[in-house]
Amino acid sequence: MMKLKTKVLLAALLLLSPGMGFAQDYCPVIPMPVSAIKTDSQFILQSNTPIVLNDAALRPIAQYLQEELLKTQQLTLGLQAQESVKQPAIRFVLSAKKKSPEGAYALDINKDGITITAREASGAFYGATSLLQVIRQSKNTKGTLNLKGWKMEDQPAYGWRGFMLDESRHFFGMEKLKSIIDWMAFYKLNKLHWHLTDEPAWRLEIKRYPKLALVGGAGNYVNEFAPVQYYSQEQVKEVVAYAAKRFITVIPEIDMPGHATAANKAYPEFSGGGAPGHPEFTFNPGKEGTYTYLTNILKETNVLFPSAMVHLGGDEVSYGNQKWATDPEIRALMTDKNLAGTKEVETYFMKRMADSLYRMNAKLLVWDEMTDADLPKDKTIIFWWRHDKPEVLKSALNKGYETVLCPRLPLYFDFVQDSTHNYGRKWSKLYNPLENVYAFSADQYQSEARNKNQILGIQANLWTETVQTEQRLDYLVFPRITALAEAAWSPKEGKDFQKFMQRLKGHLALYEQDALYYYDPFPSRKYPEPVKVGKGIKRFNTEL
Ligand code: ACM
Repeated sequence: MMKLKTKVLLAALLLLSPGMGFAQDYCPVIPMPVSAIKTDSQFILQSNTPIVLNDAALRPIAQYLQEELLKTQQLTLGLQAQESVKQPAIRFVLSAKKKSPEGAYALDINKDGITITAREASGAFYGATSLLQVIRQSKNTKGTLNLKGWKMEDQPAYGWRGFMLDESRHFFGMEKLKSIIDWMAFYKLNKLHWHLTDEPAWRLEIKRYPKLALVGGAGNYVNEFAPVQYYSQEQVKEVVAYAAKRFITVIPEIDMPGHATAANKAYPEFSGGGAPGHPEFTFNPGKEGTYTYLTNILKETNVLFPSAMVHLGGDEVSYGNQKWATDPEIRALMTDKNLAGTKEVETYFMKRMADSLYRMNAKLLVWDEMTDADLPKDKTIIFWWRHDKPEVLKSALNKGYETVLCPRLPLYFDFVQDSTHNYGRKWSKLYNPLENVYAFSADQYQSEARNKNQILGIQANLWTETVQTEQRLDYLVFPRITALAEAAWSPKEGKDFQKFMQRLKGHLALYEQDALYYYDPFPSRKYPEPVKVGKGIKRFNTEL
C-alpha cells in the first residue's frame, strides 16, 4: 500500500504542468511525432552551446533557432564551424542517406549533444521546431536549461497543413499576421491561405488599379466607415519572405466572380450587380473589359506571391447574381456562347480566368462549387468546405482533382468551441470543440480517392465576421491550432485525446507567457468568451 503522504505527493506532481519542467513521459511536442522515445539522459543547454552545421543550406534554419532562443529564452547561441567543435553542441546534419519523405527528420537529445538529421532543409526546420518546443517547455534557470533526453523520428502524414485567415471582414495587420505565421511554424503548418478580398473590403495594393485598396480598403464587416486598411506590395513581399523562412507558402485569394463588392465599390464599371441581401456582389461576366481588368490584377498578384498558386474563390455566386438574368451584356454573352443559364455563365467566367492563371504558370485553387466546372484536373485544386455535401467531395475525387479538406464541421474556426459560447457560428446545434478538430482525419476519405496523393491535406478556415479584436482571434485559434496540426501531421494510429490534453497543458503555459487570450478547455475555463464590441450579442446560425 502506498502511504497517504506519497499518494498526495504523486497527485501533486501529476497536477503540475509538464511545461514547468517536471518529469512526465508525455511528449511535449505537438503535433505528436511518429515516434518519440524518452531516455534517461539529459542535455544541459546554455549560452555557450554552439550550433554546428554540415551544410550551408542550413544557415537560415540555424538563424531561425538562434532568433527564437533569443526572443523566448534570452539565450544567445553562436554558430561554429564543423571541424573545430569538440564540445556538446546542437548539430544540424543534412544527409542524403536518410531516405525519407519530404519534411522528415530525426531529433536526438542526449548528454553529449543534440542532433537534428534530415535529408533536406524542410526536415531540418521541422526538427528545429520540435527542439524549440522541448526547450520552451523546459525550466530556464538563469540561462541554463536541463533538456530531457528524447529520440524522435518524424515525418508528416499530409503535405498540405493549412490555415486560412480572412482579412476582408476584419483587418489585423503586419504584427498580428507575423505572430500567426510564427505559431503556424511552431506547429509545422505550412500553407497560409490569405483571404484578401470580399464584400466589406479589398486589402491588397494593386498598382494598376490603386482605387482597389484606397477605396475598397475602407470599412469592415461591422463598420462601413472604418478607415482604409490594406497591405502594400512592399508589406506583402515582407510577409511572403517571413513565411518562406518558416517553410510556409502564402497563397492569396482574390474571390470572384462573387464576393466582389469592395472591388465594385472602387471600379463600378466592372460590377455585375447583386441581389437585395448582397448588392454589387459580382463582377460582370458579360463585359470583355472585366476579363482584362481581372487578368491584370492577377498578373500583379502572381508576381507578389511566388507560390504559383492563386485561389479564385468561386463560392456562393448564387447569393448575388440575380441581376445576371436581366443584364443586357450578360444576356448577349449567353446568346453568343450558347450558355443555358447563370450556372453556365459562372463556369464560362471561371474557365476564362483559369486560362489567364495557367498562362502565368500558376495553379488555380477554388472552393468546391467549381467541382462541376470542367476545369483541368492537373492545374486545379478543389477546396471541400461544404461538410453537408459529401457527394461534392466524392465527385471531385472521382474526377481526379487534387483536394484540400476544410469542411465547416469541424474545421471552420469561426464556429464556437463550447456549448456555452454565444458569439460565433453554429450549425443548428453543432459546433467545433477541440476534440472534434483533433479527431478529424483525412484518411477516412482515402477510400473515395483514385490515388493516395489526391487528398493533399487539411486546412482550418477563420472567417472573421465575428472577429473584431485580436483577443477574439486568439480565442478562436488557440488551442484549436494544435489539434489541427496534429490532425494534419501525425499518424491516425496512436492518437489519444486524453493524452493530447495532458500534452496541451505545457502549451497553454506558453500562451500565457506570450499574453495570448486563448480558450482554456480545462474546467477552470480561465478566460471568458470575448463577444461583440458595441451593441448586443449576435448569434450566427448558419444552417441555410
Ligand atoms: C465559404 O465558406 N464560403 C468558402
